[in-house]
Amino acid sequence: MLDAPSSRGEIVRLLSAVGAERSRLFARSSAIKRERVGNKVYFRGLLEYSNRCVKECLYCGIRGSNPRVHRYTMMEGEVMEAARYALAAGYASIVIQGGEIASPARTREITRLLERIGEATDNRLGITLSLGEQSRETLEEWKEAGARRYLLRVETSNPDLYARIHPRDARHDFERRLETLRHLRACGYQVGTGCMIGLPFQTLDDLAGDLLFFRDIDADMIGMGPYVEHADTPLYRHRGILLPPLARLHLSLGMIAVLRVMMKDINIVAATALQAIDKLGREKALMAGANILMPNITPVRYREDYLLYENKPCVDEAADQCKECLEARVRLAGDEIGRGEWGDSPHFALRTGKKEPADGGMTGKNQ
Ligand code: 5AD
Ligand code: FES
Repeated sequence: MLDAPSSRGEIVRLLSAVGAERSRLFARSSAIKRERVGNKVYFRGLLEYSNRCVKECLYCGIRGSNPRVHRYTMMEGEVMEAARYALAAGYASIVIQGGEIASPARTREITRLLERIGEATDNRLGITLSLGEQSRETLEEWKEAGARRYLLRVETSNPDLYARIHPRDARHDFERRLETLRHLRACGYQVGTGCMIGLPFQTLDDLAGDLLFFRDIDADMIGMGPYVEHADTPLYRHRGILLPPLARLHLSLGMIAVLRVMMKDINIVAATALQAIDKLGREKALMAGANILMPNITPVRYREDYLLYENKPCVDEAADQCKECLEARVRLAGDEIGRGEWGDSPHFALRTGKKEPADGGMTGKNQ
């Protein structure tokens, strides 16, 4: 029986496994998934709320200074409509994601949105935020206003690699990112983090370090996906040294499988970027151990303006079509959909003693 690896060396070995050894890893991760989180896949409706951003991450297509991007922020009415849509579609959770803007006005705007969504849906939607690094006070205010989860990828746990894929200034400080992750935990959020896989200069040892980092900070959920180059970004000039896309996909699936063996009861996302490489990338991720999908519920007219990377799927699909294609995908992977359930990870329940009610909070307030 394959035990959870606990050293970089062991993880690197598993990530490099081929043939029967790799098959054994995937058989184990898929068995652990079924035993520990079940074969239900939970949906989080993803709202790409705004592409305004003060950051300049060298890999990201919507980095603040990219002049080709038309900047937008969704209107309150559009967010409300998407929230109602998510509830009606049985998603039970939404993610409000946007570029990083830290200002009193943005803080108030999000607080108001959280309160309004809570009122309009009788607190039945589990709300996740993904709005970059924010002050502890702001994070507390949003938690108080109804946010339950927060996603902030560490991107890479190696500070040297972090410095190579970000501008070297105070705004892109690795320590501050770690500090924000600590604040999120202290504020009582379910904490999600993650990394990109196949970045230029990244080694298998770095990726092993990422998995150990996730374990050490005791994350509740992880979203990690392949790095996909974007022509309008500074990192694009290193495209010549990248792993071929299929190798990045292969590595991403290996990372998911090893993570499931290491962190048996957390939520793991089948990242959308997988699908930019392989049409069936997300199904393969579900089979490797992931249990969360994030259907895009952003109004179609904004999607062209939220291209973090190239070949982003579903750019011209309406939410409904996306929903149908996702449902078919889940069945294809041999899983079923956890409809109307928040889908908190068993890990979070154990960590905090908070258990989701059997009705998934669908019949009343449950914060
Ligand atoms: N390829 C893959 N993922 C990317 N992200 C940003 N740019 C890219 C890219 N070129 C991811 C980052 C960020 C998340 C919102 O999108 O990991 O945290
Ligand atoms: Fe940092 Fe987009 S600018 S991820």
